[in-house]
Amino acid sequence: MSVGSKPSATAPVAVKKPYDVYRIREDFPILKQKVRGKPLVYLDSAASSQKPNKVIDAISRFYSEDYSNIHRGVHELSQRATKGYEDARLKVQRFINAASEREIIFVRGATEAINLVAETYGRAQVGAHDEVLITTMEHHSNIVPWQMLCEEKRAHLKVAPINDRGELILDELEKLLSPKTKLVALAHVSNALGTINPVREIIRMAHARNIPVLLDAAQAVPHMAVDVQELDVDFYAFSSHKMFGPSGVGVLYGKEALLEAMPPYQGGGDMISSVTFEKTTYNQLPYKFEAGTPNIADVVGLGAAIDYLEEIGMGAIEAYEQELLEYGTQALSKISGLTIIGQAEEKAAVLSFALEGIHPHDVGTILDQDGIAVRTGHHCAQPVMDRFGLPATARASLALYNTREEIDILVKGIHEVIEVFR
Ligand SMILES: Cc1ncc(COP(=O)(O)O)c(C=O)c1O
Repeated sequence: MSVGSKPSATAPVAVKKPYDVYRIREDFPILKQKVRGKPLVYLDSAASSQKPNKVIDAISRFYSEDYSNIHRGVHELSQRATKGYEDARLKVQRFINAASEREIIFVRGATEAINLVAETYGRAQVGAHDEVLITTMEHHSNIVPWQMLCEEKRAHLKVAPINDRGELILDELEKLLSPKTKLVALAHVSNALGTINPVREIIRMAHARNIPVLLDAAQAVPHMAVDVQELDVDFYAFSSHKMFGPSGVGVLYGKEALLEAMPPYQGGGDMISSVTFEKTTYNQLPYKFEAGTPNIADVVGLGAAIDYLEEIGMGAIEAYEQELLEYGTQALSKISGLTIIGQAEEKAAVLSFALEGIHPHDVGTILDQDGIAVRTGHHCAQPVMDRFGLPATARASLALYNTREEIDILVKGIHEVIEVFR
């Protein structure tokens, strides 16, 4: 049976109605192709997700019909383009339930969002001997900006440990919160392990000591409904390309009072209110943080991705993916010599694994011969690999369009890898 076709009447029914994964797959043209003569099995969505027609068409339509620069024009196209861009901001606001559209800053991606906070809030608030607390499971994008800041300010980077299942050790994290801690920055969901962190609890612990919290949500927003007000999180950073939108766009959510108090990130057009050689006054939120012509069309594409996700429903996506993750975990656990790296109680969409005596790059290369796309390497989380004493893992990451049949093909592929190296 091809990966994208409906199962026959006798085949096990993969998905409960009303979630129709086979119908959803029809929305993603790239998934219809063959790779190396085999139907593509795309299990690399944590690195970047594929795009539905709705997003591809929205970008194409925008360039064909509405494109112009935004905010500055009185003419019709500029007004239409501005509306498309600002409507996307409202969609993001609604999607994460921010209190105001002024709290939604468009940036290039999660990496830029975190750097923005480090270079503005961080530079203003962190001084010599202060501390920034992160965790062992962070992506390099949520390590290096804080390292650079701490180096510049002669501050200290503290790291909360994880256990062998890949879960944060909360008692240890709490002990690391001190009067010198100026910010806690951690992943909502780990890209290397899939761990969903107990962020409500951590935010509560930090706020009890008046410490703000930044969540790196790059791996959270594609998989679960998010409510930033309910979380009471201070900064929330994510990328469009991991949530079925275009690359080159991301979002920084920040509480309005914090953003108001922060200095601007970059200087240039649009972020100003008035400029003289003597003095510049800055624009209001969110424009204060959006210097220069932004990635207009891709912001519109992100808006279309949000429309798409909301049509399916984040609750339905989460429930489906949890079922698929459970199926995959059970299937992989049966393979002798395979260890799943990251076995947290609360997990999302990631199956990182090591095969005894076989280098992950060999695993990835052989699976590719079967049209199976997995990622191998340190997943931009080298300290996680060090924690588990591994140079790398192979990682199959799931998304709303993956099927049980694809997991079966992965399992068969892994058995082939083992055969080759036996
Ligand atoms: C947890 C996490 N944080 C941050 C990033 C960086 O995202 P981007 O490269 O889109 O800025 C990634 C990307 O893999 C990620 O998985």
